[in-house]
Amino acid sequence: MPILFDKEKQVFKLDTSSSSYIMRIYKENYLCHLYYGAKIPDYNLTDHIFKGGFASFCPENINIPGAGFSPGVCTFEFPGENTGDFRESAVSIRNADGNNATDFRYAGHIIYSGKKPIDGMPSLYSESPEDCETLEIEMIDSFTGIKAVLYYTVFEKLSAMTRRVAIVNPTDKSVKIERIYSLCCDFNTRQFDMISLYGRWLKERTVQRQPLFVGTQSVGSKRGSSGHYRNPFGAIVGHDTTEDYGDAYGFNLVYSSNFKFNVEVDGHGGARVLMGINPDTFNWQLNPGDSFDAPEAVMVYSANGLGEMSRTFHRLYLNHLIRGKYKHVKRPVLINNWEATGMNFTGEKLLTFAQRAKELGLDMLVMDDGWFGARDDDTSSLGDWVVNEEKLGCTLKEFTHKVHQIGLKFGIWFEPEMISRDSDLYRAHPDWCVHVPGREKSIARHQYVLDYSRKDVRDHIYSMIKKILSENEIDYVKWDFNRNLSEAGSALLSNENQQEVFHRCVLGTYDIMNRLTTDFPDILLENCSGGGGRFDPAMLYYSPQIWCSDNTDPIERLSIQFGTSLCYPASTMGAHVSASKRAGYETKGNVALWGTFGYELDPNKFTDEEKEIVKEQIKEYHKYYDLIHYGDLYRLIDPLESGYKAAWMFVDEEKTQALFTCVVIKLYEDLVFYLKLKGLDKDAYYRCSQNGEVYSGALLMNAGLNLSDYPNTDGESFKLFFEKIS
Ligand code: DGJ
Repeated sequence: MPILFDKEKQVFKLDTSSSSYIMRIYKENYLCHLYYGAKIPDYNLTDHIFKGGFASFCPENINIPGAGFSPGVCTFEFPGENTGDFRESAVSIRNADGNNATDFRYAGHIIYSGKKPIDGMPSLYSESPEDCETLEIEMIDSFTGIKAVLYYTVFEKLSAMTRRVAIVNPTDKSVKIERIYSLCCDFNTRQFDMISLYGRWLKERTVQRQPLFVGTQSVGSKRGSSGHYRNPFGAIVGHDTTEDYGDAYGFNLVYSSNFKFNVEVDGHGGARVLMGINPDTFNWQLNPGDSFDAPEAVMVYSANGLGEMSRTFHRLYLNHLIRGKYKHVKRPVLINNWEATGMNFTGEKLLTFAQRAKELGLDMLVMDDGWFGARDDDTSSLGDWVVNEEKLGCTLKEFTHKVHQIGLKFGIWFEPEMISRDSDLYRAHPDWCVHVPGREKSIARHQYVLDYSRKDVRDHIYSMIKKILSENEIDYVKWDFNRNLSEAGSALLSNENQQEVFHRCVLGTYDIMNRLTTDFPDILLENCSGGGGRFDPAMLYYSPQIWCSDNTDPIERLSIQFGTSLCYPASTMGAHVSASKRAGYETKGNVALWGTFGYELDPNKFTDEEKEIVKEQIKEYHKYYDLIHYGDLYRLIDPLESGYKAAWMFVDEEKTQALFTCVVIKLYEDLVFYLKLKGLDKDAYYRCSQNGEVYSGALLMNAGLNLSDYPNTDGESFKLFFEKIS
């Protein structure tokens, strides 16, 4: 079993196929962290409790005489506030007396097979009890009587764990949770680099790496959304860690609102990693008898660099996060009208898209923004989810019927969390948006965010969406979210609960997504937020794919898709061929193939030659679908690092097939450029379907390919497919 408890030594050991996580109940019931890293067979780590007798100015526990035990220098699982540990705490609770001294100690534990869901929140799941094992540790602050439950679930085969925390108030007094991180991981060294993903609209998830410095380094969001600017992902890696070598610890939060990934290096040389709800914008009143669940965090360890870390995240998410029909069913190749028409379309025009798309072999037409209310531009109608029949030239039922008759599936766009200032809904209910009563509301894209902390608001919006989805034949929904929250307040919440708005709103979003996916299990849901502004694991729990970026330029997409792939699988990345001009259709197709694949242009404008390319691309999509969607990704040349080329490959689990893709960004300085492939079976022989030659896996991985033999001009690209023959 992956979770061991040594009663005598009071040690917990959580093993996966390649990692060990070890903690110990120390004197006075402190829950101390001892080790996280490459798998080790034993756990004789008693000397790893850092006594810190010389930790000047650090308070000691008076009941541990002689040991010099200072909370300020020890490594902990769930460190509290204002009780002698001066680093950022994992938890801070303001008790009924008004102070925030918080000190949770071990009180008991249980171990069981499988994993429990979190009520009302997304989390990873087990398909069978053998998939994982869970340790629940009960902690108590004996002074206030407040309890905490720490959940550790070990996915043994995958070198991955999930962590979360629930706070329970069994007392008769209300308290305030002022900080609640979902995971704390105390390392006893600071010899690491920190990796995070930053960006903005059109430039999401760019990789950033820098050595840890003494002090606090963090990334987070205060936007009410995970956001374009930082992703709820962070990694701690050795200074010498590369794609294929060295320690890599990856952390990802299953949450779509304000988060923080916080790494603090203290003066004693340790590094504390915290991940969870951003405490800067959070405060939660916990009344007697109530409990609060913090979102789940995922931890992945790789001893073989970032590549293996990513592949572990991908497998974990494909098997234990993504759900529903389209977990296994092939996703339709769609054409979306947004980049071609904006809101300036008619039903007739879209039917020509559908007709052309069908001729080319595509599967689905998606009607984007502009089909409802009086929405001809972005100034109005969000919240008025009533079909504009004048624009469509018929009812939606008739329109979807026509699309289906052409032989395509039909998808539709919504932005369910928003309300336009110019909308019937806003005129009727000006207090239904997130706002501070009496204070001017900031506007963005002419819209406000609906107050999803309110059930009446959610019920109203969902009833409109449900009506449209029930009365029409709809196969796909694109769920958009085009602004962040400001003046976060709610007309219904009491003063004590106002700081709960951000969290309550995201719980409201999860509620509607849950209703939608439960009521319409056959609908494919794709998330979107001005491109990839809400690309996080929580959204993947509801929608198996997320529009990766509004930037569809294939060269720009390279760094976006490379960054996204650090923890998110190819099958989750919405990637389309567009009319962008920086590269030809071949390269646009090759880049979009690394994703859910589709088109975002006017198909009436294709030349005959382009039509043939598209037909070929659709064939390739089908041919390589399993390999890309379920295979292992190997990043070979990082476009940001190299500046000249990008290259990657997918290899199936049995190592019988491999697809290699290379995109030329600009001419390489040296004429000679050999590239070693990865992930193949060194003892097998592969035929390259492009030139018919046979190579051993060992040759391809050691001698490599001579890239100078292939296209080398800016914007050109090529693919090579290898199939095992012996
Ligand atoms: C932002 C999305 O990213 C686009 O794809 C498109 O759906 C627009 N919103 C529509 O307003």
